[in-house]
This record gives sequence, structure tokens and C-alpha cells, in this order.
Amino acid sequence: MIRITVDGKEIQTEQGKTILQACLENGIYIPNLCFLETREQPRASCRLCFVETSDAERPVTACTETVRDGLDVRTNTEAVRRLQRTAFKLIMSAHHCTPKTCPVAKPCQLMRIARHIQVGLNPRPLETLERDVQEEVDLTFFTYYPFRCVMCGKCVDVCRDRNERNPLTFAKRGFDTVVTFFGSGASNLPCDDCGACVAVCPTGALIPKPPPSES
Ligand code: FES
Repeated sequence: MIRITVDGKEIQTEQGKTILQACLENGIYIPNLCFLETREQPRASCRLCFVETSDAERPVTACTETVRDGLDVRTNTEAVRRLQRTAFKLIMSAHHCTPKTCPVAKPCQLMRIARHIQVGLNPRPLETLERDVQEEVDLTFFTYYPFRCVMCGKCVDVCRDRNERNPLTFAKRGFDTVVTFFGSGASNLPCDDCGACVAVCPTGALIPKPPPSES
């Protein structure tokens, strides 16, 4: 075991853990959307988990940085909050869900992050970005809502972990990127309906369909 200090509090953790893992396991919340425990190479795409450390000049992403004995970590400095708020506003500029329409058991991850970094869910002064995508897409076992999707990639990653065929993937590019099934013909079931992708979605972009009635 090694010791690190987070916001003045000493915690114990294991060599090889990331700062984000060590903090979350010790009950210290750091905003995150793309972190997936089982993924060896973090995507680091949401840019929300910034922290400052005693041995780096600039803030670093806590999901990519591993712990070192004696490391001093700050999770709530001005520089950290500035970066987190910028990243969050960018995410919310393409996210059309509101607390009233959110299908996730409250509070959803976005509401939790907004409260933690003290920023509103409305992206002002950034404009809302228009995306050339459908409101909802039928994906056999579940429905995909592109305007709720924050492109964290957790559904694609967990699907890759569980299915050799790796059916769930990204399609299109930039702000028009969507999650979809790869190469599934109409007569083939695209996956085994394990539900893992729905379970890891932090924003209600994947909602399971009710099972078909027997009659
Ligand atoms: S959790 Fe670290 S960048 Fe998303």
C-alpha cells in the first residue's frame, strides 16, 4: 500500500491505481463520464476529471495518471474548476435533455457534475450546437437517443469487453457521431442483449425496450 494526500486528507491506495480510482474508492468524488473500471487504456475523452498534483506544473486527468507514494492531489483548485466547467459546457451544448425530461433516476451524472462544479445545466454563453442526427433510433433491444449521448464511449467499450464480435460501435464523425450496431443484417440479432451498455450509460441515451408480449 502507498499513501497519497487528497485535498489535505491522507488516504491509502495500491500501486498501479489511477488517481481517479484511488479517490473514488476512498469516497472522494471527482467528476467523470468516460471512466470505465475494466478498461486498461482510458479514453480520457470527457476531460472532466482534472486534478492538480504536487509533481506536475499543469492540471492532469485523474483517469490517466497513476498514484505515487507521497503524492499531493488537489481536486478543487481554480485551474481545475475552470477546465472542468469548460469541458462540461461543451458537453451540454450538444445535450438536449433537461431535468424534467431526464429518464434516469435522479440525479443523473450530468446533474451531479453540474452541482459539484457549481455550473448550470444550460451551456450559456456557448450556443446550443445543432446535430444532424435522429431524435431516437431503434437498436433492436433498446432505443438510442443521440441528443442525450455525451460520446463517453462506455457502452462501446463494455460491449467490446463482452462480445467477440464487438457489435456496438461509433458511426459518422465529429458532432454527428452516433452509437450504432456494426454490420448487423435485418435477419441477424446484433447482440446477446446482455444489457451492459444500458447499465453503464451515464445519461439515459440507451433505454431498454420492454420485452415483447407473448400474445
Ligand atoms: S474520466 Fe477522465 S477524461 Fe473522462
